[in-house]
Amino acid sequence: ELPRYAEVIEVGPRDGLQNEGNFVPTEKKTAFINALWRAGFKEIEVTSFVSPKWVPQMSDAAEVMKEVGGHSGTMVLTPNKRGIDTALAAGAKAVAIFIGVSRTFNQKNINKTTEEAVEGLLPHIKELKDSGIYIRACISTAFHCPYEGAIKPAETLELCKKLADAGVNELSVADTIGKATPKESYALFSMLIKELPDVLMAAHFHDTRKMALANIYAALCAGVTRFDASAGGLGGCPFAPGASGNAATEDVVYMLERMGIETGIDLDQLVQAISIVEPHVSRELSSWYYQSYKKK
Ligand code: HMG
Ligand code: MG
Repeated sequence: ELPRYAEVIEVGPRDGLQNEGNFVPTEKKTAFINALWRAGFKEIEVTSFVSPKWVPQMSDAAEVMKEVGGHSGTMVLTPNKRGIDTALAAGAKAVAIFIGVSRTFNQKNINKTTEEAVEGLLPHIKELKDSGIYIRACISTAFHCPYEGAIKPAETLELCKKLADAGVNELSVADTIGKATPKESYALFSMLIKELPDVLMAAHFHDTRKMALANIYAALCAGVTRFDASAGGLGGCPFAPGASGNAATEDVVYMLERMGIETGIDLDQLVQAISIVEPHVSRELSSWYYQSYKKK
């Protein structure tokens, strides 16, 4: 049976803008984020505290937090102790760590193997928990890796289990390069929910092969009620060749609402938010809902 409510977690300001060719001016980012709050999101990944040499697009993380970090649903991405410390100093109450199931991907993304990354983060998960910080763990290459190919579901489960046992509040399980099919989505999420019933489970689909909505529907059927999505379909990981944007939030919200699943998101306000950032990004925002709205 499908749920009556689903949480759509907006990741556009982070996943979307980290992968833009150009640096989006900080005041445009914060205007975009404030407009997203007005649209009704309860949780937004607003920025990431990563090396400015690796990802210059996110080098204004502290300034972004100063402007928009006051909201209780603000989340930020952090790869290491340094990122966690600066995020907390900037007022973060929720942090998202990120680890790839694929060793090669993890090495390219954060210059550590999966094992090294987990080992390095486990003590900090405990500290964060003890100080009441919400922890989301983003699990990259949960289905396929651009370097290693197909990932075994058992390996994804093993990593998810380690993090769940360490006490993270939420897992955001990602199809980083948008290669999964609804069959894989249903199978993996059914298994994860069965094996790890005590952790919140979110699905994070990139739309490279236009399967994201179908994969979200399959995850919904498997019992997932939390979905990451990116306004305008922005997004991609700079260290995952071939990854395009996330599922476009407006298309996800449209689909869920039309299925009678409440999201609490106002689509008109969401379109307004997208139109703030659109002039500052290099790609064409091709989501069906946004394009058809503009033609109205
Ligand atoms: P490194 O070069 O191995 O580490 O990078 P380092 O410790 O030698 O640090 C290099 C420099 O960065 C040093 O500065 C550090 O101080 C600094 P220098 O001494 O050369 O001037 N540094 C930092 N600065 C700011 N914040 C920090 C930080 N840490 C070190 N936290 C590192 C290792 C992890 C830092 C680097 O690889 C990195 O920043 N990677 C981030 C990659 C990234 O952001 N990827 C995209 C996000 S993940 C994603 O999109 C996937 C997801 O959407 C799910 C999915 O779709 O799969 C979540
Ligand atoms: Mg992503």
